[in-house]
Amino acid sequence: MNPYVPRIAVIESIVDETPDIKTFRLRITDGGFSFVPGQFVMVSVLGVGESAISISSHPDDAEKFIEISVRKVGNVTGSLFRLKPGDKVGVRGPFGNGWPVDKAVGKDLLIVGGGCGQGALRPLILDVLRHRDRYGRVEILYGARTPQDLMFKYEHDVWASVPQGCLLLTVDRVPPGVEWKHNVGVVTRLFEHVTVDPANSLVCICGPEIMMHFAVKGLLSMGFKESQIYLSMERRMKCGVGKCGHCQIGGKYVCKDGPIFTYEELKLEPDKIL
Ligand SMILES: Cc1cc2nc3c(=O)[nH]c(=O)nc-3n(C[C@H](O)[C@H](O)[C@H](O)COP(=O)(O)OP(=O)(O)OC[C@H]3O[C@@H](n4cnc5c(N)ncnc54)[C@H](O)[C@@H]3O)c2cc1C
Ligand code: FES
Repeated sequence: MNPYVPRIAVIESIVDETPDIKTFRLRITDGGFSFVPGQFVMVSVLGVGESAISISSHPDDAEKFIEISVRKVGNVTGSLFRLKPGDKVGVRGPFGNGWPVDKAVGKDLLIVGGGCGQGALRPLILDVLRHRDRYGRVEILYGARTPQDLMFKYEHDVWASVPQGCLLLTVDRVPPGVEWKHNVGVVTRLFEHVTVDPANSLVCICGPEIMMHFAVKGLLSMGFKESQIYLSMERRMKCGVGKCGHCQIGGKYVCKDGPIFTYEELKLEPDKIL
C-alpha cells in the first residue's frame, strides 16, 4: 500500500467530549486496518490539509472502526469539526511505534495523561480492560484544565473499577457552581498517591510538554529509571514516513522513530526538550 495515498473513511458518529474536543468514529471504506496502541494516522479534509491524530480506540475494533479524538486548534481540525456523520475524510497510516505493550506484560503500569493527550492513552487503557491478566497493578492519573475539559467521562467509572487499579482525576480549577469530588492541582500532585512498584513497572505519559517535563522530574525522584518512562511527543508532521524531516527532534524522526520515546532516549537529544 502506498503510504502517501490516503484511504477513504466515512464518519459513522461524532461524540462531543469537551467544548473543544470531539471523538470521530471512522469506517475505512476499503476494509482491513490494524494498528497498535499509541500509533497515529494522518487525517485529511479534502481541499484543506492533513493533521497527525492519535488513534483513540482499541486495535481489536479496527476491522470495524477506528476512533480519533481531535482538539480544534486551526485549519484542519476546524474543518473536521464542521463535518457530519456520513461525510468522508482521508486516512494515511497507521504510523509510528506505539506504547510498549509487550514489554509491559507482567509489569505494573502507571498511565499519566494531560488534556488532549488522553486520546493517545485510551487504547492502552482499553487494552488493560480487555486483557486484564497481561498487566500487574494499573494506576491511571488524568488531569485537565476544568472538569468539563475531561475526555471520555462516560468511561471513567469503568476505568476506575479495574481490579488492582485506580483512576485519579485532577483539574487546574473548578468553575463556580460545578460539582467536583476529585483533586484540584496539576497532575504531578497525584504522584503522592501512586503505589505501583518502581522496581517492576513502566510509565506511559502523554500531554503538554511542560506537564511531561515535571512528570519526568517527579518520577525520577520517586525511583523510576529513565528507561522505564515512555513519553509520546508531538511535532509538526508532513510525510509521516521519515522522509521530509519536518518532525525531527535532534537525530530522530518523531513520525518513524516515535512518537513514543523513553526519557533515556530523549535526554540524549541536543534540543533538551524535556
Ligand atoms: C504524533 C501526533 C499525534 C497527535 N495526536 C493528536 C490527537 O490525538 N488529537 C489532537 O487533537 N491533536 C493531535 N496532534 C496535534 C495535531 O496534529 C495538531 O493539533 C493539528 O495538526 C493542527 O492542525 P490545524 O490545521 O488544525 O492547525 P494549524 O492551523 O496548522 O495550527 C493552529 C495552531 O496549532 C499549532 N499546532 C499545529 N500543529 C501542531 C502540533 N503538531 N503540535 C503542537 N501545536 C501544533 C500551531 O502552531 C498553531 O498555533 C498530534 C500530533 C502528533 C505529531
Ligand atoms: S513527518 Fe516527514 S520525516 Fe516525519
